[in-house]
Amino acid sequence: MSYDVIIIGSGPGGYVCAIKAAQLGLKVAVVEKRPTFGGTCLNIGCIPSKALLHASEMFHHAGHGMDALGVEVDKPKLNLEKMMAHKDATVKSNVDGVAFLFKKNKIDSFIGHGKVLGEGKVCVTDADGKETELEAKNVVIATGSDVAGIPGVKVEIDEKVIVSSTGAIALDKVPEHIVVVGGGVIGLEMGSVWGRLGAKVTVIEYLDTILGGMDADVSKQFQRILAKQGMDFKLGAKVTGVKTSGKGATVSFEPVKGGDAQSIDADVVLIATGRKPFTEGLGLEDAGVVLDERGRVRTDTHYQTNVPGVYAIGDVIAGPMLAHKAEDEGVALAEIMAGQAGHVNYEVIPSVVYTQPEVAAVGKTEEELKQAGVKYKAGKFPFTANGRARAMQAQDGFVKVLADAETDRVLGVHIIGFGAGEMIHEAAVLMEFGGSSEDLGRTCHAHPTMSEAVKEAALATFAKPIHL
Ligand code: NAI
Repeated sequence: MSYDVIIIGSGPGGYVCAIKAAQLGLKVAVVEKRPTFGGTCLNIGCIPSKALLHASEMFHHAGHGMDALGVEVDKPKLNLEKMMAHKDATVKSNVDGVAFLFKKNKIDSFIGHGKVLGEGKVCVTDADGKETELEAKNVVIATGSDVAGIPGVKVEIDEKVIVSSTGAIALDKVPEHIVVVGGGVIGLEMGSVWGRLGAKVTVIEYLDTILGGMDADVSKQFQRILAKQGMDFKLGAKVTGVKTSGKGATVSFEPVKGGDAQSIDADVVLIATGRKPFTEGLGLEDAGVVLDERGRVRTDTHYQTNVPGVYAIGDVIAGPMLAHKAEDEGVALAEIMAGQAGHVNYEVIPSVVYTQPEVAAVGKTEEELKQAGVKYKAGKFPFTANGRARAMQAQDGFVKVLADAETDRVLGVHIIGFGAGEMIHEAAVLMEFGGSSEDLGRTCHAHPTMSEAVKEAALATFAKPIHL
């Protein structure tokens, strides 16, 4: 069977690339090792975790602070099985949606393990060991990433007591105590889910801050907010061992700066110390595809590997491991393969942490600007001074706008607050168009909205906010 494009992997990178390529008139096949499409994101990542984040937030809301709004409800009762069924139904409708889109766009699919045999050749081995050889002008590696584990520490992830994000979205009861190794995105999102449902949550993080790499103002205030919600933090602590003991597990750790080792017991331990590119069994070495020093497939700016006709996108190549980054690369690559000009602006890739409040950012952090020696202005506006936030009791957080001191061009926007993940996109659009903080501050924003805080933070960079 011969195609214009064969894509290995149907996550957000692969499936979006397939649909776009088909829309541009190419004959496309997708190879997927899971029985359903959508990759980590739709099956065991972004989508199921958001279903649980929403449901657990509703549970928490019902039991906390409704009285203050004049809504008197009895103590809510948790039906975890039903909550998990909501999660499973959400996943099913999303993965079925991808299957529908493949059909609609006449994309062939092969369920099995894909292996690159060299230029233009892919072998698919299905669950029964049957091999099918496919040919194509272009082969796209979109195989994503896998759990990295703790660097230098041997940990047996059983997905019951010692879990990765995969087990953390499928626990059959609320643990009394969950220890989260890694204060990054997965740790804080999943820690929030189980904390809201009643677990004691302890986060052990190597760095001195949570969400390393985020703007320091944001991570500091975010940590305070999470601590207020009951999360316990052990920062500057290096986990050196995780072992099952009795019904639970014991986590050993020591201060990074030196000092006595300690240990802590938990019913469940979540390993959330990052992900690594997934290239196992793909035959890349035999096909001569070069990886970089971190095991990522090396590509040029057109996603072309060193082997002609073999491309790669998404988590398996360099850049942030984000579904939307992979999607945009999928679109750009489809355009390139169809002879058009595909492009991704890596300066404007938003990132969102779906906790409550949410954390969202686009562009540079203040620390990055300082380090690069850029002269900048910063404007900040807290949600405590926003009318809509008061009405919704959502005053936690702020908006920070960073703009070039000379040109006023917006270089970064950082938000902690209810709905931050939606608000960040006005900043992304502005930055795509090279807009200034004055453009943002003079754009009429509907009242009363949380987004007015974005406008006020922009005003704070070149003039003065009105409501502060
Ligand atoms: P991460 O890279 O965000 O965080 C891992 C944390 O573990 C780091 O802060 C690191 O310092 C810490 N760590 C490493 N070794 C340690 C040790 N021995 N002891 C204590 N702490 C240690 O990785 P995470 O949270 O696992 O997420 C993986 C990927 O998935 C990320 O690239 C993330 O962007 C992506 N993701 C994105 C989401 C979103 O956009 N909302 C949601 C979930 C995942």
